[in-house]
Amino acid sequence: EKGGYEHFMLKEIFEQPRSIRDCMRGRMYPELGKVQLGGIKEFANKLKNIDRIIIVACGTSWHAGLVGEYLIEDYARIPVEVEYASEFRYRNPIITEKDVVIAISQSGETADTMAAIEMAKDKGATIFGICNVAGASIPRISDAGVYTHAGPEIGVASTKAFTAQVTVLTLIAFYMAQQRGTLGTAELTELLTALDEIPDKVSLALESNELIKYIATEIKDATNCLFLGRGCGFPVALEGALKLKEISYIHAEGYPAAEMKHGPIALIDEQMPVIFIATKNSSYEKVISNIQEVKARKGIVIAIVTKGDRKVKDMVDYVIEIPDANETFLPLLATIPLQLLSYHIAVMRGCNVDQPRNLAKSVTVE
Ligand code: M6R
Repeated sequence: EKGGYEHFMLKEIFEQPRSIRDCMRGRMYPELGKVQLGGIKEFANKLKNIDRIIIVACGTSWHAGLVGEYLIEDYARIPVEVEYASEFRYRNPIITEKDVVIAISQSGETADTMAAIEMAKDKGATIFGICNVAGASIPRISDAGVYTHAGPEIGVASTKAFTAQVTVLTLIAFYMAQQRGTLGTAELTELLTALDEIPDKVSLALESNELIKYIATEIKDATNCLFLGRGCGFPVALEGALKLKEISYIHAEGYPAAEMKHGPIALIDEQMPVIFIATKNSSYEKVISNIQEVKARKGIVIAIVTKGDRKVKDMVDYVIEIPDANETFLPLLATIPLQLLSYHIAVMRGCNVDQPRNLAKSVTVE
């Protein structure tokens, strides 16, 4: 059942070109510049008038929610708040009938996310579920929703479910923009054509596996690791750090790169690996100055860069290339090498990658 792979996690990482494709199937028409989401169709009109979206989730799904925030605000121009379900449910938040709450959960059974939904429902909000497991509790208690169709995810560390969640959120952002007229057909055609190329680019990103395995040998004995990114690279950094800590038990933190100088920079010495998302996008030059700050303190820098980049390569210890793509789709590509890096480090440290200690695949207690 592991399809020849040593662990489910590795199999699931390598399944991503297909799982992302499955998630897009029947939902987008690049030539027509159109997104179609049957699951939330009956709320198409409501979406034209909403003032706010609240995203609730836990763990990796919460990271996908942060990507969703950036994309929905950018393209559909609707204010979005992203909340940890566990905090949201207990803090008497302001919710009205005009709000749409998007609950994201791979398993569809997470106790805190369910409780957050129930509370928002009681206050009259409309609930959209983004789930992977068909027929799970969250899809059943939601008003509408979109399945991620990533297929069963067995490894406790979420990989293909995360990229599928991000794909769905990208489509939701485009769908909302289409309904509200903030994106025109021509722009949608361009974006959807680029999105359609992402599964093949994920395959190319996976080709760095051997290089990543080598880099893993170099940093596997670290006790701390920092992951830094800006813009959509920030949620990717958070996700990279969570993946590393949960399966390799190395302490890791994800930060917005610019926040480093407000504290974490104190941790940097020659023992400290710092992983940067340094692809060519709107924050490229700013990230480069952050890399210089780390190198000046002798940190070990591993950078995820756009294929062909020379500037960053000359400054850092290791680079991992990903294909060039529209910045909007960066999380779908930049996450791939971070999943592989965590995987190889965990295997080298003798950890049980598919079932890390103290963790369960679905957290059904609060
Ligand atoms: O099933 P859910 O998406 O609701 O699960 C949420 C978290 O428990 C989950 O993402 C957890 O953080 C993963 N182990 C991360 O890899």
